[in-house]
Amino acid sequence: MPKYSVAVVGLGFVGLSTAACFAKLGAKVLGVDIDKKKIAAVEKGVLSFYEPGLKPILKKVIKDGSFTVSSNIRLVAQAPIIFIVVGTPSKEDGSMEDRFLLSASRQIGAGIKGSNSYHLIVVKSTGIPGTSLKLVVPEIEKASGLKYGEGFGACSNPEFLREGSAIEDTLNPDRIIIGGRPKDTEMLKTFYKKIYGKKLPKVICTNPTNAELIKYANNTFLAMKISFINQIARVCEILPESDIGVIANGIGLDKRINPLFLRAGLGFGGSCFPKDVKAFIEFSKKLGYYPPLAEATMKVNEDQPISAVRMAEKKLGNLEGKKIALLGLAFKPDTDDMREAVSITIVKELLKRKAKVFAHDPKALNTAAAIFDGKISLEKNAKACLKNADCAILVTEWMEYASLKPKDFKKLMKNPVLIDGRRLFDADEFSEQLDFAAVGLGSKV
Ligand code: UGA
Repeated sequence: MPKYSVAVVGLGFVGLSTAACFAKLGAKVLGVDIDKKKIAAVEKGVLSFYEPGLKPILKKVIKDGSFTVSSNIRLVAQAPIIFIVVGTPSKEDGSMEDRFLLSASRQIGAGIKGSNSYHLIVVKSTGIPGTSLKLVVPEIEKASGLKYGEGFGACSNPEFLREGSAIEDTLNPDRIIIGGRPKDTEMLKTFYKKIYGKKLPKVICTNPTNAELIKYANNTFLAMKISFINQIARVCEILPESDIGVIANGIGLDKRINPLFLRAGLGFGGSCFPKDVKAFIEFSKKLGYYPPLAEATMKVNEDQPISAVRMAEKKLGNLEGKKIALLGLAFKPDTDDMREAVSITIVKELLKRKAKVFAHDPKALNTAAAIFDGKISLEKNAKACLKNADCAILVTEWMEYASLKPKDFKKLMKNPVLIDGRRLFDADEFSEQLDFAAVGLGSKV
């Protein structure tokens, strides 16, 4: 009897959320990470990032023994299924960085060396087509001396969880995609059947190439949907009497379109969409195809944050010496993650124009302090941030900002100019009482 049902190698945000949820669903899980400090923190239920609902689950599964963590990679030999969940960031040219995947594969290979039971290696990390069979499998063969298909198997099993809703997404996934040989896909499907029981969603078993491409197609499509609505929003900003909120609602009711991911804003950020769209572009180019929709998706997205700065200039003229208050810095609400956050571009553009930048975020202030390194003032609350400002820009739609009323902006700011970059505020109410502009909002005639 193996000691664990599964091992998860890489305890970053996705690995830790997945491992804790698997344990909550009844699996006996081993979590492995080379970072000893991280292991010590996780053992105490301490997280290095903010994810709603994860902490109590983690504490519970550590305490009841269903989740064990270690920095000893050799322990993976005691789990028949080993998930690789390490980062695949972008390289300078946008293509996928594979060194973490390769080193995790080498370590796992060394860990299962000499084992006489079959191990299934499951690649959960986002990897371009070919990752499982051409990158991971050869490394494991080399390090373990075992043969693919005999001593061990491999599957691609892409992850679709979102930051901020990782628990809900893992406990109730829309679907499970598994790419591999039938014996391997069946083995993984059996694991999922066991933990999800009656709640098992539709499982698609295919080859690794399709599974890997599904992940890129999925993220590229969602990113494209956002750039699409942002493109219509830009038209609205020039067209009097138009409003992107009404338009998104109107088209979202068409079942073929659906209302999700049609929120216009200052663009998408995070550790996934920008990186995955770029990796998809580079991958396609290498195949000899230049993907125009993916290119346009990035192009629209790169200009969205700058459009907020242009709106401020339209209202105030030259921004030099003006106090600009940014509400929200995280790439989206309910996270402290600022990777590829649009706030970074906005700050850069404002500083280029010699504006004085003040900012607040409910969770990302520590992250922001490391990124901006004293170049902007970070405020402990929204009201302090707005004090005496010439213009405020709502960058991230945290719920706590939704309770701000026009009178708060009027009372606190030197000049009550508000730019709603995420359509959080009621446009009619705010336009009546403030000098108000918003993404996708045409002027009144
Ligand atoms: C995304 C995908 O949604 C997940 O399915 C996937 O597993 C994950 O990437 C990944 O590849 O690991 P995530 O990056 O956590 O998840 O965030 P999303 O909730 O998808 O939001 C991404 C960005 O799009 C945010 O900046 C958000 O503000 C923006 N967005 C989203 C919009 O501007 N408008 C929308 O309508 C929706």
